[in-house]
Amino acid sequence: MGEAIYPVPESWASGALVNAAQYQDRYVRSVNDPEEFWREEARRIDWIRPFTRVKNTSFHEADFGIRWFEDGTLNLCANALDRHLAERGDAIAILWEADDPTEPERRITYRELHEQVCRFANLLKQQGVGRGHRVTIYLPMVPEAAVAMLACARIGAIHSIVFAGFSPDALAGRIKDCDSSIVLTADEGLRGGRKVPLKANVDEALNQCPGVTSVIMLRRTGADVPMLAGRDVDWHEGVASQSADCPAEEMGAEDPLFILYTSGSTGKPKGVMHTTGGYAVWASMTHHYVFDYRPGQIYWCAADIGWVTGHSYVVYGPLMNGATTVMFEGVPNWPDPSRFWQVVDKFGVEIFYGAPTALRALMREGDEWVKKTSRSTLRLLGSVGEPINPEAWEWYHKVVGERRCPIVDTWWQTETGGTMITPLPGATALKPGSATLPFFGVQPMLVDNDGKPIEGAGDGCLVITDSWPGQMRGVWGDSERFFQTYFTTFPGLYFTGDGCRRDADGYYWITGRIDDVINVSGHRMGTAEIESALVAHSRVAEAAVVGMPHDIKGQGIYAFVTCNAEVEPDEALRKELVQWVRHEIGPIATPDIIQFTPALPKTRSGKIMRRILRKIGENDVSNLGDTSTLADPSVVDHLLANRPAT
Ligand code: PRX
Repeated sequence: MGEAIYPVPESWASGALVNAAQYQDRYVRSVNDPEEFWREEARRIDWIRPFTRVKNTSFHEADFGIRWFEDGTLNLCANALDRHLAERGDAIAILWEADDPTEPERRITYRELHEQVCRFANLLKQQGVGRGHRVTIYLPMVPEAAVAMLACARIGAIHSIVFAGFSPDALAGRIKDCDSSIVLTADEGLRGGRKVPLKANVDEALNQCPGVTSVIMLRRTGADVPMLAGRDVDWHEGVASQSADCPAEEMGAEDPLFILYTSGSTGKPKGVMHTTGGYAVWASMTHHYVFDYRPGQIYWCAADIGWVTGHSYVVYGPLMNGATTVMFEGVPNWPDPSRFWQVVDKFGVEIFYGAPTALRALMREGDEWVKKTSRSTLRLLGSVGEPINPEAWEWYHKVVGERRCPIVDTWWQTETGGTMITPLPGATALKPGSATLPFFGVQPMLVDNDGKPIEGAGDGCLVITDSWPGQMRGVWGDSERFFQTYFTTFPGLYFTGDGCRRDADGYYWITGRIDDVINVSGHRMGTAEIESALVAHSRVAEAAVVGMPHDIKGQGIYAFVTCNAEVEPDEALRKELVQWVRHEIGPIATPDIIQFTPALPKTRSGKIMRRILRKIGENDVSNLGDTSTLADPSVVDHLLANRPAT
């Protein structure tokens, strides 16, 4: 598998923003003379006070720090909206498609979006929000979510979006961690015809968050929800009296723009913090080159704003580039598996960016759901979030794109702010399943477990040797954790947590996480988080969670659970625990398999041997490796003999 090569189509080679020779030339310049390269590239942003200093970064403990364009000032919202008004004020900024296909779409021009953002920013100010304050956003995929983000950016507030599929507990944890006093939400969300009780979730979460003094609630479904006098404000009533004039704050390049919580291998999710200037350059530049974006084109990134892809490639990147960005409230397979492609036809989408998990699910439904749509406007396809298996890649290419659309398989992370390893459609020959080559300024390296560099073709841990403008700047509220998490495994290098192979052509093939993070449907889950949810149940003594291969989700969740002594585990308890985890974290953390076991395999010092559990999860049990250090090797035999059918 994976031997096929798709050369750059002739039309792309001649017409694209970047061709192969230009990619080579500019890549070399970007790493040989980053100062000059980024001084030039950063001109794409309107700076209020131009920077004089470009790059001031070190990954080493002695002088650790990451600062880009540090003496420049700007406002990201002004870059996304105000600067387009003169020339493109009447162009569509957001094209919104509702969950229910019979509900009318919304078309919001740059001028209208600007006005909505200014009014909402003034409402935020009236609620006491100012520079540096944290605003928690728990909204479905509606244009108001983008309005909320941009309004925060306009007044210098820091947004923290919590995916609207997370539970009240998960929401409360994130509100408390960044100490925000305001939450933006909706009465209910709508997804695949089902209602999600967002306001009720907020109310439940706020029982744990006495610091929240204000909730602004958007009416999406009109459900009858209780409003707490003095705390809850109706979104539309609140903005009605606001002025449409709201000056954009002058922000320092290194002032925080947003926090986004993501799972790591240990402890609770960490608040990944991005700042303003470098992120603005990175999000707009990657969107421009990776999608070969030209103003006027209809562009659709199908990610939710609750994830980093939604931040950089639904809202900030496209809007900074004056794009028409499609926002979709629904799901790929409702009312039927043609939905994505019907939306493509309805709006004339030219660039479509989605996740492998959705493609695999649609592929299973059969080609006719795709073929009954036209898709004639599509010219470029993208993939993000997890490795795309060559079979799904080929299907995407042949059936969805009818062989005419290049596929940009973009590898990146919440921490990187934007794409890092990716083809450029006019420059890079494609190999199905490979994210191909580094973007400008990105210096990947493979190292072995001891940190020794691997030259040429080989397999190893993926690290990045030098900073790029979109890099995260810190973990909110924990100044040590950033350095500890990313720069100590291999001193002086940024460790991605991913394994990777490089082939003889220098192409990168991400093989997946090599830490205790699993990637379920393109969403990152820390195994530790699911374990702590399980042990919080009164009948559970101990739990260990590993990933398992899953045809649609990429990885599924396999939980080994030991119950308290007096408990006789049965099917009813298994179902209860599944519901429990869904309630504690959210449906994305639903365990696929729960295996009850009287004990977990442990070393004599009491450490769980995860290596063995991972192999059982992967159904790769012919060689479990050395089990002689186990305190009780019979535990493994018991686990193997009692594996549930998958
Ligand atoms: O393991 C990699 C995988 O997703 C992880 C990052 O997850 P998150 O921070 O949630 O960001 C997802 C959206 C960028 C990575 O460490 N990953 C992401 N994109 C790819 C990928 N793995 C393989 N190929 C990709 N294109």
